[in-house]
Amino acid sequence: MTPAPRTDARTTRLPGSLPVAALGLGSFLPDEVVTNDDLAEKLDTTDEWIRTRTGIHQRHRLAPDDATSDLATRAARAALDDAGMVPGDIAEVLVATTTPDYLVSGVAPIVADNLGIRVPALDVNAACSGFVYGLRQAAGLLATGSGPVLLIGAEAFTRAVDPQDRNVAILFGDGAGAIVLGTDDAGELGPFDLGADGSDPTSLYTPVGGTREPATVDNIDERRNFMTMRGREIYRFAVAHMSASSLAVLASAGLGPDDVDMFVGHQANIRILNAVADKVGIPAERCHTTVHLHGNTSAASIPLALAHARDNDRLAPGDRLLLTAFGAGLTWGSCLLTWGTA
Ligand code: COA
Repeated sequence: MTPAPRTDARTTRLPGSLPVAALGLGSFLPDEVVTNDDLAEKLDTTDEWIRTRTGIHQRHRLAPDDATSDLATRAARAALDDAGMVPGDIAEVLVATTTPDYLVSGVAPIVADNLGIRVPALDVNAACSGFVYGLRQAAGLLATGSGPVLLIGAEAFTRAVDPQDRNVAILFGDGAGAIVLGTDDAGELGPFDLGADGSDPTSLYTPVGGTREPATVDNIDERRNFMTMRGREIYRFAVAHMSASSLAVLASAGLGPDDVDMFVGHQANIRILNAVADKVGIPAERCHTTVHLHGNTSAASIPLALAHARDNDRLAPGDRLLLTAFGAGLTWGSCLLTWGTA
């Protein structure tokens, strides 16, 4: 869409925002595409059930020899190429992920090493809200004078769900999206609204393998090392928190839904996304959705959707984006991002 001219964009910033621009954007999706019919060959489910309940048509699955850091590194290289930058230009690496290569040791240091740099590198684990939380962390780093921050959302959730569990196996896909953020008047990041309610993490969690219940032969035999969730509860939580959080961001910016050029929510379920857009007052033509193509890629879903929008000429400099997400923890978060490339 062609944005309305924003003559004030460089002189008047929104309250709670920073002059931060996306210097580069990149993504990586594994080659293997798994359709709903492919899943229905092994699970008691149907293409029709999955499409009508979730809007998902297909998802990508990582190659057997790959791990999350491999996806993240490829997306990072694409974002650096897009920015016309080299790894040495990056001051910090953040990886938003809930499916790390290892339980102990982060993905971000591995990615930094793959890129050949020795800079501060850490993971952000806010589950599917991770990319929005990562944007907040990046904004904080830039506000204290950091050079360009490489933020990657990367997940390999097909490795974290039980392929025999139809409740969750149908939902998730793998992939990574990366953005290079730098202090620059060409863009604007914020305000933010982030939140967490840790009173019952069991509504969406992996019971076994952490310090609460270390893995044993018995509990692995019971398949409790895979992620599980109470779907309907999460659905209600997602709609309530993503819409309230989106409205809170608009209120603190002094804007209304008509000021948003594109709404990109965490791509978990088309019914959730439609319900949130409806509550926030954003019409379908200003929502960008990729859940039908990628499934739920958790922290990677928003940057993958942004890259998809840009690659399909739906994202232009000056566009004001409203991003919102929810996830395990439980966590949620929203922010405004005015797209700008230096
Ligand atoms: N295929 C066929 N049937 C399935 C199924 C599948 N893949 N998965 C579950 N079912 C069955 C259940 O066993 C249940 O059967 P029952 O009623 O006989 O017990 C029934 O379908 C559930 O139906 P319903 O509760 O009406 O499903 P739903 O409309 O709530 O949709 C979800 C289920 C999971 C798609 C939905 O609740 C959801 O999207 N929740 C949010 C989950 C999410 O986004 N998690 C990630 C957070 S980042």
